[in-house]
Amino acid sequence: MFKFILLTLFLNFVQSEMRFCGHDELVRQDKPKRFLALERDSSWSSLRVEADWSNMSKESKAKYSQYLEAAIDYYANALKVHRYLEGLNWDSNSDTYSCDLSAKDFYGKYIEADYYVLLIETFDSSQSFAARASSCAQDSATKQPIIGFIEINTAYTDDYDSRLLVAVLTHEFTHALGFSTSFFPYFIDQNGEMYGDNFYINETVRDTPTVYMITPNVVKRAREAFNCNSLPGLELETQGGSGTAYSHWNSRIAFNDLMNPQAVFTDFVYSEFTLAAFEDSSWYQPDYSYAQTINFGYKEGCNFHEKKCIINDEPISRMFCNDTHAESLCTHDYLSRGKCYLIENSAALPKEYQYYSDPNLGGNKLTDYCPIVAGNFNCRLPGCPNSDFMEEVCENCRCIEGTYSLTKNYEITHAACHKIACTDNFVEIYIGDNIIKCIKTGDMMDVPGFHGKLKCPDIEAICRVEPCLNNCFGTECSSGVCADSSLNNYSDCNLCNDIPNDCNNSDVPSNYNYSKYSGFWEILAGLGLLIIA
Ligand SMILES: *[C@@H]1O[C@H](CO)[C@@H](O)[C@H](O)[C@H]1NC(C)=O
Ligand SMILES: *[C@@H]1O[C@H](CO)[C@@H](O)[C@H](O)[C@H]1NC(C)=O
Ligand SMILES: *[C@@H]1O[C@H](CO)[C@@H](O)[C@H](O)[C@H]1NC(C)=O
Ligand SMILES: *[C@@H]1O[C@H](CO)[C@@H](O)[C@H](O)[C@H]1NC(C)=O
Ligand SMILES: *[C@@H]1O[C@H](CO)[C@@H](O)[C@H](O)[C@H]1NC(C)=O
Ligand SMILES: *[C@@H]1O[C@H](CO)[C@@H](O)[C@H](O)[C@H]1NC(C)=O
Repeated sequence: MFKFILLTLFLNFVQSEMRFCGHDELVRQDKPKRFLALERDSSWSSLRVEADWSNMSKESKAKYSQYLEAAIDYYANALKVHRYLEGLNWDSNSDTYSCDLSAKDFYGKYIEADYYVLLIETFDSSQSFAARASSCAQDSATKQPIIGFIEINTAYTDDYDSRLLVAVLTHEFTHALGFSTSFFPYFIDQNGEMYGDNFYINETVRDTPTVYMITPNVVKRAREAFNCNSLPGLELETQGGSGTAYSHWNSRIAFNDLMNPQAVFTDFVYSEFTLAAFEDSSWYQPDYSYAQTINFGYKEGCNFHEKKCIINDEPISRMFCNDTHAESLCTHDYLSRGKCYLIENSAALPKEYQYYSDPNLGGNKLTDYCPIVAGNFNCRLPGCPNSDFMEEVCENCRCIEGTYSLTKNYEITHAACHKIACTDNFVEIYIGDNIIKCIKTGDMMDVPGFHGKLKCPDIEAICRVEPCLNNCFGTECSSGVCADSSLNNYSDCNLCNDIPNDCNNSDVPSNYNYSKYSGFWEILAGLGLLIIA
């Protein structure tokens, strides 16, 4: 499965059978030629990126450049490199590249940059990728990627909201910078040797053949974040085609991580794991102030990794769900409400992923079929709140579960967004004029004036610092707030929840079908679109 077909100094890109597996699927266009070894500075300085927009139409540039720039700015801020002293040089006669780029203006010139990225625009609904990227050339001495492309398929991305566009493009640029199973073997260890196959190990965990990335900073950061000192490393995704498998963190372990393989409609965590991998390459020195703390599986210990997600029909962690009867449930980060994705598949799942007595029952393939709540209504973004629960959307709003209702006796659980305020050991939840004080996770509370009960959330988890909106377009995010305060505008979020023109219109039912933005599952099944290669 790890077949690195390496020809001379360059990658032999393997053609993938799955079209959405972008970053590995290119076929070599040119015969290999050599790069001149250019001299680099011995000290670390911030990464300089030269972006070539020449392939984008005026209209698309106007729409997409802010998102592409967010991706480029993120790494220009988050990574330092040994800069090229004279600049990057790409001479069409002496250098080589493996992508079919046609940036003719660049030939023979020295450019004050350490990475050159070409933006390519495609409009093609017969293709199933939304965006893809790859590095096309490596420094001949260090094998560090220096030239690459990001391609966006505007046939699909036109519908995406700003959070997703920033995330998809940053995800792609991460691949272009070398986060890919094609480039991990070139990472350089502390002894100055390339890792080759030693960047990972195969191990069986949860009765499943698993691949762990085991480079030192990844190991250290994973053990700390999950609070599990025996963790061998961080799992790479093993499902999916050749552009997906082994080039992402496993979605079962790192569900809403930027570098998980699926573009879920979620508040992505731009985690320290990805920056740690870059640190382990020796090509980059990360600034971890640009990394965010994970919230999926955070500090859950070794069981979260070692045990199957469902045992005796019960989830082993709050990260997994089992209540498919609920009208809605909260996502693991309490930032959205949604549904437990647990479905009856048309065939039996692979034996190791059968968690229930019914062999067809399970979640999404990339999460190793573990059932997880997929959000479809974000508490921080504009939308139509449900008046029966006196729901609100606001920057400090979070998701709360319960059976409380103004009008009826609910038999089943529902979730709703409410403003909260945290103190050291309790959380206050504002519902209409009521302030419900939760001091213990799981307590069932009365809500004056309402039927039913409110279930106290996991107090530590709901009170955590959350990812910044739109990753602050690549600029500084600290304690969940963008340093540039104009970027903290939660009402200026470009689509957000799918909002009907008038929320008070009685034609809009309280359980309005947000399916256009409702998680990735249906869309994934239908079109395979939302896998970001
Ligand atoms: C962008 O690149 C593609 C593929 O190389 C090419 O077909 C297309 O004409 C280019 N578009 C522009 C506006 O340069
Ligand atoms: C991991 O397993 C695959 C096949 O399952 C094998 O090709 C590969 O060499 C193994 N790698 C290591 C480092 O053991
Ligand atoms: C889900 O698990 C909870 C305990 O975590 C249990 O009380 C409940 O009955 C289960 N629900 C379903 C639908 O199986
Ligand atoms: C936030 O965005 C909305 C919608 O674009 C705009 O009306 C409002 O003035 C903005 N608020 C601030 C503080 O910038
Ligand atoms: C909807 O109704 C609520 C309360 O009746 C009111 O506060 C709000 O302004 C209305 N919104 C719109 C868009 O009409
Ligand atoms: C929601 O809408 C989508 C398409 O717009 C449709 O396929 C789906 O069946 C709808 N769901 C419900 C529960 O009505």
